[in-house]
Amino acid sequence: MTIRIFEDDAALAADVAQEMVKLVQEKPDAVFCLATGESPMRTYAAMVQLAKEKDVDFSSVNFIGLDEWVGIPRSNPGSCYHFLHERIFQPLGIQESQIYLFDGMAADLQSQCTRMNDHIAQLGGIDWMLVGIGMNGHIGFNEPGISWDKRVHVADLAPITQTVGQKYFQSEMVLKQGLTMGVQHILEARTVALLANGVRKAAIIQSVLEGEVSNLLPASVLQQHANALVFLDREAASGLKNSCFFTT
Ligand code: GLP
Repeated sequence: MTIRIFEDDAALAADVAQEMVKLVQEKPDAVFCLATGESPMRTYAAMVQLAKEKDVDFSSVNFIGLDEWVGIPRSNPGSCYHFLHERIFQPLGIQESQIYLFDGMAADLQSQCTRMNDHIAQLGGIDWMLVGIGMNGHIGFNEPGISWDKRVHVADLAPITQTVGQKYFQSEMVLKQGLTMGVQHILEARTVALLANGVRKAAIIQSVLEGEVSNLLPASVLQQHANALVFLDREAASGLKNSCFFTT
């Protein structure tokens, strides 16, 4: 696990954007699995801008969604589908054939999981997974207590996730379940980038990076990932006690 700490979120975003664009230049058919939420917003904007400036060809890149709210239509601006289309796919002119996302309104959620597992296998696995962290240490919708061997699955959302998740929606929504990559896919991704910004993430970041690896704090599993990159702004890093983590 490598931890990079930046003065602010703009500097963090610029660095992650460079990493993403560099991967596309080196591997034009790279497979990205992307989170939504507040944490990567500036990063995605920086990535789109950099890709356009450098005129990077994204026409062979594959995109997979990390997670989705069950029961939320794709047209809802709070859906992960809507978020990724608005912030990445439309600005970069990504074709639907390059995109594979969950459908939170599907009648058969189990088949959503099977099809996503098959799709990832067909693509040969995930090259670059970008994740955020929930206030309870979740990644994707892998909530505290999750078993490490899960692949794509339907998750029952923790009460705090249901409450915090309201911030993405214009009116109050019922957020009981989510579709998500499991920890196995996270461990198998060739690179996992965890992004956290803001002081509200400081305490949970300290626990998952400096505490013991435990399924009660799912993001702590990244300590065991051979190629995990953790990108923090100074505020999110402010709870860390081990100064040797300050690598940039
Ligand atoms: C949400 C999502 C995660 C996201 C995380 C952090 O519940 N399931 O994929 O990364 O919580 O969200 P934010 O970046 O808005 O703090």
